[in-house]
Amino acid sequence: MTETPAPQGPNKRLFIKTYGCQMNVYDSERMADVLRPLGYGMTDQVEDADLVVLNTCHIREKAAEKVYSELGRIKVLRSAKAEAGGGRMGVVVAGCVAQAEGEEIMRRAPVVDLVVGPQAYHKLPELIARAARKTGERLAADFAPEDKFDALPAERKVEGFTAFLTVQEGCDKFCTFCVVPYTRGGEYSRPAEAILDEARGLADQGVREVTLLGQNVNAYAGEGGLAGLVRQLAKIEGLDRIRYTTSHPRDMDEALIAAHAEVEELMPYLHLPVQSGSDKVLRAMNRQHTAETYLKLVDRIRAVRPDLALSGDFIVGFPGESDKDFEATLDLIREVRYAAAFSFKYSRRPGTPASAMPGQVDEAVMDERLQRLQALLSEQQRAFNAGQTGKVLPVLFDKPGRHPGQILGRSPYLQAVHAEGPETLLGQIVPVRIESSAMNSLTGDLAVETPRSSRPRADSAKKELA
Ligand code: 5AD
Ligand code: SF4
Repeated sequence: MTETPAPQGPNKRLFIKTYGCQMNVYDSERMADVLRPLGYGMTDQVEDADLVVLNTCHIREKAAEKVYSELGRIKVLRSAKAEAGGGRMGVVVAGCVAQAEGEEIMRRAPVVDLVVGPQAYHKLPELIARAARKTGERLAADFAPEDKFDALPAERKVEGFTAFLTVQEGCDKFCTFCVVPYTRGGEYSRPAEAILDEARGLADQGVREVTLLGQNVNAYAGEGGLAGLVRQLAKIEGLDRIRYTTSHPRDMDEALIAAHAEVEELMPYLHLPVQSGSDKVLRAMNRQHTAETYLKLVDRIRAVRPDLALSGDFIVGFPGESDKDFEATLDLIREVRYAAAFSFKYSRRPGTPASAMPGQVDEAVMDERLQRLQALLSEQQRAFNAGQTGKVLPVLFDKPGRHPGQILGRSPYLQAVHAEGPETLLGQIVPVRIESSAMNSLTGDLAVETPRSSRPRADSAKKELA
């Protein structure tokens, strides 16, 4: 990267809008890291920005349309800024729409200076320099995740007490509905040493909870698999909570299940998408498991960790889904009892095998099924939350609440927890007695006396003994 100029203070303003999944959130942070040495500091005012990045998602319909309408707005803001003498606004489209539809974006939206896919954003400095001179490529969409991770700055700048950390990227499973293998490329696992270094850097900045990210995170192929990585991470001083997402049922191996029983830092909460409860549909989706094998897996995990809570992803109206198939999904949900879930109407994605399958389901039927599915899942979520009242849960407080004197944190099960308490507790894991619950949050009382002085990380002293 010969074009990177010498470091300077932030004198240019960067605005990033992030769509889609947590991996995009991670990528946006890393893009900011890449651009910082060029003098870019973050702004939340798009109209003032010298550089605007849209980090896009392609997983379901309308994602691309949203990007085009946002680009329309940006075009107006860019003219206004230039007319007011505010200088030029650069516009970059990044992420999965960039990967899938880069050339079309360049054709349809002349306001865009640069299109960069999820595996090429480490080249942003070089690409921006070339785009400014209008000499080189404006489209970067190659797949080489190892180059990207090697080229990203070792330093990450984070705020707050929780962080995402990408450990694996891409997918080789080819579920027939999904664009990810085409937008993110094949499965790639980062070397454990690089991940551990990044995690130590996060802990040094005060991060207490890390969520390991991967489209197939439990297929992590570094030495010892994901279980080995989790055990290594758990030794890092200050990192007291570890989560991972998203898992494929087929890759939940014995070692990972054992880690749930043995590693205290691994939170008892697992996002384990099943998509459907019908074997016929699961087969057409190429999920490579049945409803029964999924249920048995859940039983095995709960046998070693009875308090583990599950969340899932569901698709209604996959091509060929009959009423009976849909009922099988409801039956599976009743059997599992989910703490939270994400559910979607099937969305026909160009280029995926399912988009060409016969038996595409009517929109009205999908609407009706989605409503019934979500009613059941909401009831389960409410029941799960209500089941926490009266219990004392360790809560990682990480934000001031909306009202003065209130603080906001997360339970082990990722529930938002409100409590009255001083801001000195931010960044600490504190026992909280849960008093009441709602659909999306819990309210509790600090279960022990508030310490007079803050005791950061007193609860991780055990590590010095380990
Ligand atoms: N249509 C609907 N939902 C989809 N998902 C992925 N692809 C599609 C699609 N074509 C959902 C799945 C996946 C989640 C991230 O998004 O449930 O687990
Ligand atoms: Fe969307 Fe998938 Fe890309 Fe994440 S990886 S941004 S969910 S298309």
